[in-house]
Amino acid sequence: MTFDRRHILSMKDFTRNEIDFILERAVKLETLAKGGRSDLLAGNILALLFYEPSTRTRMSFETAMLRLGGSVLNLGSKEASSVVKGETLADTIRVISTYSDAIVLRHPSEGSARMAAEYALVPIINGGDGAGHHPTQTLLDLYTIKKESHLDNLDIAIVGDLKYGRTVHSLAYALSLYGANITLVSPPQLKMPDQIKGDLKTMGARVSETENLDEVLDSVDVLYMTRIQKERFPDPTEYNKVVGAYKITGEHLDNVREDMIIMHPLPRVYEIDSSVDDSAHARYFEQSFYGVPIRMALLTIVLGVEV
Ligand code: CP
Repeated sequence: MTFDRRHILSMKDFTRNEIDFILERAVKLETLAKGGRSDLLAGNILALLFYEPSTRTRMSFETAMLRLGGSVLNLGSKEASSVVKGETLADTIRVISTYSDAIVLRHPSEGSARMAAEYALVPIINGGDGAGHHPTQTLLDLYTIKKESHLDNLDIAIVGDLKYGRTVHSLAYALSLYGANITLVSPPQLKMPDQIKGDLKTMGARVSETENLDEVLDSVDVLYMTRIQKERFPDPTEYNKVVGAYKITGEHLDNVREDMIIMHPLPRVYEIDSSVDDSAHARYFEQSFYGVPIRMALLTIVLGVEV
């Protein structure tokens, strides 16, 4: 299987075999991800272009590259770059392509990563494009589900902001390839976009919707909580109507399956009470760590290095 020099833009571009290949590569790299250094990517430079805030995506890519012996170039804040002088994304990508071997881009505009790929001389990895997609988050989510639960015959509830939450758009596409039974739980104004639900049905996914989290709590293998994406609301009063719509506390855990796991792409704000952190169900911090082996796997694959 070859991904050499391929852009990573959306989970819609992946087959199940390709995803499984990446997950298997991550298994091989997990011990190294926990500590140590190799020279697998020595001489390679990864450029990080983050036009929106990030902790996990930015720093786990950086960790991945450093553990593999490569180097990282960081655009830094927009204010410290020529973006504030009005330089277009296309020109920035053309230039950074000549400084680096791959580029991770996070940008507020949906479709920006795909547009960047048209101008890039090196692979573009989408680190989140507005309310669009976040494929590397999905790969680490799948890795978490595979390690901490099971991907076959999965019952999953995806909860919260399904309109603006890019992580859940990517995750739903990928889970459809695994035949998951997906329950979408959201307030009416934050439902999964019709276009995505239509795509999922065309792919043969089993998808249902509800506003009532209590309906599904006792029957799922995975409870995937998400933050309401405050920064994407055109009108702050609309955000105030839905903030805190769903919150998991220790009391909710009384009737769940013994092996049910709780995931969250993080950062969390109100969605999971800290009293849940020490429960046997919490997996969101393991999940954020798995971003390192997954991104190590992805970098070796797009840069054409065997492991
Ligand atoms: N999950 C995620 O994308 O986190 P960051 O916004 O911190 O990168």
